Amino acid sequence: MRYHDRDGRDVSLAAITDDNWRAVADVAPTDEQRRFVAALGARYLLLSMRGGLWNSLAVLAGETVAGHVMWAYDDEGGAHWVGGMLVDAAEQGKGIGRAAMLAVVDRLSDLPGAREIRLAYHPENIAAAKLYVSLGFQDTGEREDDDIVAALPVHR
Ligand SMILES: CC(C)(COP(=O)(O)OP(=O)(O)OC[C@H]1O[C@@H](n2cnc3c(N)ncnc32)[C@H](O)[C@@H]1OP(=O)(O)O)[C@@H](O)C(=O)NCCC(=O)NCCS
Repeated sequence: MRYHDRDGRDVSLAAITDDNWRAVADVAPTDEQRRFVAALGARYLLLSMRGGLWNSLAVLAGETVAGHVMWAYDDEGGAHWVGGMLVDAAEQGKGIGRAAMLAVVDRLSDLPGAREIRLAYHPENIAAAKLYVSLGFQDTGEREDDDIVAALPVHR
């Protein structure tokens, strides 16, 4: 599947490479959003490199690095998790976050054994909540710290 933002640019997910990692590291939310997420994509890249759990991907709009997203598989719960969804402040509100989420759900749904996709978000993070709910994620009733854990069943 191909996904587009509202300017008609292709939105795609790309591996982190020698060429794009600096741009991904520089991806930053607005000042107000820093209470919900890391201040820079760099934090998520390091988590992927050091933690041995998360897998970072660059979000591209056309050829431009516009964001970051990462995924992980939870052995115990048997679910795939999405985290670190971050669209650069200058690129927000253009449909990139929605397209990137559709692309990551698509990609994870194709993995062998995919059953459920989970993510967590702060209850006051309205933009994230609206996006995830509109894609079909439902509150599981579980909480991680204060964050709402939501899940989407995989139908494949
Ligand atoms: C959440 C985020 C990824 C959305 O990315 P985006 O590219 O701006 O989103 P889109 O333009 O694709 O919009 C998708 C939907 O998100 C919701 N949304 C986005 N910005 C919003 C805002 N400021 N207020 C309310 N809803 C908003 C809407 O439901 C929107 O759909 P609509 O345009 O049909 O109404 C982006 O705001 C972001 O990076 N925020 C900071 C990091 C963060 O909070 N990540 C989530 C952590 S759980």
